Amino acid sequence: MLEIVPSILAADFSNLSSEITKIENQVNSLHIDVMDGHFVPNLTIGPLVIKSIRSITNLLFDVHLMIKNPLIHLDNYIDSGADSITVHIESETNNNIFSSIERIHSIKKKVGISLTPKTPFTELEPFLEDIDLILIMTVEPGFGGQTFLPESIQKIRNVSKLVEQSERSIIIQVDGGINKETIPLVVNAGATSIVAGSAIFDQPDPAQAIEKLKELIQKKIK
Ligand code: DX5
Ligand code: ZN
Repeated sequence: MLEIVPSILAADFSNLSSEITKIENQVNSLHIDVMDGHFVPNLTIGPLVIKSIRSITNLLFDVHLMIKNPLIHLDNYIDSGADSITVHIESETNNNIFSSIERIHSIKKKVGISLTPKTPFTELEPFLEDIDLILIMTVEPGFGGQTFLPESIQKIRNVSKLVEQSERSIIIQVDGGINKETIPLVVNAGATSIVAGSAIFDQPDPAQAIEKLKELIQKKIK
């Protein structure tokens, strides 16, 4: 199943409630970018804000942690109402990543592992049996509105093959620079969950922007 997941990073933070209302009927999940100013050179929101928007929508919260040492902060995000939590493979030792996976699964939430553009897809291999989602960053993490990195296409294909071989139903998510031009390319390469920030919230009508993106992927040739 293909899914479009709006990233609130591009929304108007002075009015998050009305921004969420604009897209609520078009999608099932909302992508929430957490940045700590250390793992990435930008700072966004933390559990307090996530918790406050938890009360205004039924959308599933897909929380993308771009933070150093997520394991020690994990419970705060679990308590804030996240439905799935993605941690970066580069942010911890493999042992701590395994502990994070275990902790998130212990409370029956979904776990994602993310790769920055420089990290080879083969680094995913040890985790394949234990994860629900792979997030392939298609820009350097840290900021919205960047240009899609074309080399990501081959990486999506490689990850797609890896997932097929694992015989597990792992979601293949892409994030960064997704727009009308790049969405058919990533879907064709095997992406199943498409995060988009500026291509949705920077548009005059975000709901209509989602519908247009959906139309483009319905016509995909695979
Ligand atoms: C970037 C974030 C993305 C960001 C994508 O580090 O992880 O989720 O919101 O923004 P766009 O779609 O504008 O590239
Ligand atoms: Zn993200």
